[in-house]
Amino acid sequence: MGKATCTVTVIYYSSTGNVAALAMALGEGAASAGAEVRVLRVPEIAPAEAIAYNPKWAEYVAKSADDPVATLADIEWADGLAIGSPTRFGGPASQLKAFLDTTGGLWMKGALVDKVGTAFTSCSTAHGGLESTILAINNHFYHWGSIVLPLGYENEHLLKVSGNPYGASFVSRKGAAPDDTALTAARIQGERLARVTSWVRAGREALS
Ligand SMILES: Cc1cc2nc3c(=O)[nH]c(=O)nc-3n(C[C@H](O)[C@H](O)[C@H](O)COP(=O)(O)O)c2cc1C
Repeated sequence: MGKATCTVTVIYYSSTGNVAALAMALGEGAASAGAEVRVLRVPEIAPAEAIAYNPKWAEYVAKSADDPVATLADIEWADGLAIGSPTRFGGPASQLKAFLDTTGGLWMKGALVDKVGTAFTSCSTAHGGLESTILAINNHFYHWGSIVLPLGYENEHLLKVSGNPYGASFVSRKGAAPDDTALTAARIQGERLARVTSWVRAGREALS
């Protein structure tokens, strides 16, 4: 394996594993395109009694206890960022937002400027707010001075099968795990993130 063309951090929150599966696929896609990749969850901050009320949530919290957790250093390290959350009432989960709200210091020192950023999500119904969640995550990139990267329709899979140009997304309905359609879209998003991020990094290194 040659020298990585760029660094990518995939940051996600997941209550029951769907967004986590998309995050892994996105990370695989970025790695396959030459990026050095970190895939990291944000801390779970919900009260124990809320988690205990939902057996699937409690099961996932136990299962993911040893999964690596994102820090601000992982954001600073990355040339490209992919950020994912389940849809919660049409927007990102508060657990993700709480982590993103700790980036003020990085923002102040301009450490987020010119990073390439892209977003992904899972929700339970097709019109339950996939796009609004991705757009709300993208708002952070605008404020950070990052470069917002949509998924687009660059190939047949995105155009004819998965069909969400905002970002990889999965409609979980009755709790199903992400299918090949969604995982393939996430891999493509990771490849695209690595490709475009490597151009930005190479251009910066060549011209500065
Ligand atoms: C409090 C709460 C709010 C939710 N809001 C929405 C919503 O607005 N639209 C939707 O389609 N699904 C909604 N869902 C369902 C989740 O987005 C969906 O189950 C998702 O696939 C979970 O992803 P995860 O397995 O990564 O946690 C909500 C779930 C919870 C617990």
